[in-house]
Amino acid sequence: MLGAPGAGKGTQAIKISDKFNIPQISTGDIFRKQIKNKTEIGLKAKGYIDQGMLVPDELVVDLVIARIEEDDCKNGYILDGFPRTIPQAKALDAALNQRDLKLDYVVNIEIPDENIIRRMAGRRACINCGATYHIVYTPTKVENVCDVCNGETTLRSDDKPETVYKRLEIYHEQTQPLILYYKEQSILIETDGVQDSNEIFNDIVSKLV
Ligand code: AP5
Ligand code: MG
Repeated sequence: MLGAPGAGKGTQAIKISDKFNIPQISTGDIFRKQIKNKTEIGLKAKGYIDQGMLVPDELVVDLVIARIEEDDCKNGYILDGFPRTIPQAKALDAALNQRDLKLDYVVNIEIPDENIIRRMAGRRACINCGATYHIVYTPTKVENVCDVCNGETTLRSDDKPETVYKRLEIYHEQTQPLILYYKEQSILIETDGVQDSNEIFNDIVSKLV
C-alpha cells in the first residue's frame, strides 16, 4: 500500500487482509509495538517517528524481509507503509528476486494534503492493539475505549498538526517517487482516496485481476 500519511493505507490493508486471508504487515504498527515494549529497535525508532522523520532504511529493511519469511506469509501478504524510499524498494526487489518471488500489485491511494490534515486530527488509535478509529467517520462505540480490546484510544504521538506537516513534506520528497518506480514496472493500481472507505475498497478489489 502506497500513499501519504493518513491516506487510508491501514484502513484498506485491514479490509484486504480480511477478504483474502493474508496478513497485513504495517511497519508503523511494528515500530509502535517495539516502542511500547521499549526494545532496542523501538528506542532507536522513537526519536525519528516523533519528529515525523523516516526511520533509517537499515533499521527497516531487514525487519520486513524477516517478517515475510514467516509461515503466515506463504500465501501472500500486504505491505502497509513499506517500502517508503527508493533504496527500500530496491532492497525489497532484490530480496524477492533472490527467492524467485515478486510483488503482484502496488496500490496507491491518492489524496490531497488538505484532506489529510483533517483526517489526522480526528484519528484515534488504541494504545493496546493499534486499532484505528476516527471521531467523526468511524467512532468507537464508547468514547476513548477500543471496540476490539477495550484498551484506551488516543491521538497518536505523531498526529500533532506540526508533525503531520513534516510527515507530508517527507512523503512528497522520499516516498512519492515510488509511484513512478512501480508505474514503470506496470504493477501500479491507483485509487481515489477521497471516496468513502467502502467505495475505495470495492475499487481496489475490482482492479486486482
Ligand atoms: P505509519 O504508521 O505507516 O504512518 P503513515 O504512513 O504516516 O500512515 P498512517 O498510518 O498515519 O495513515 P494510513 O494511511 O494508514 O491511514 P489510516 O488508515 O490510519 O508510519 C509511522 C511512522 O513510522 C513514519 O512516519 C516513520 O517514521 C516510521 N516508518 C514506518 N514505516 C517506515 C518505513 N518503511 N521506512 C521508514 N520509516 C518508517 O487513516 C487515517 C484516518 O482517516 C483514520 O482516522 C481513518 O479512520 C480515517 N479514514 C481512512 N479512510 C477514510 C476515508 N475513506 N474517509 C474518511 N476517513 C477515512
Ligand atoms: Mg497506517
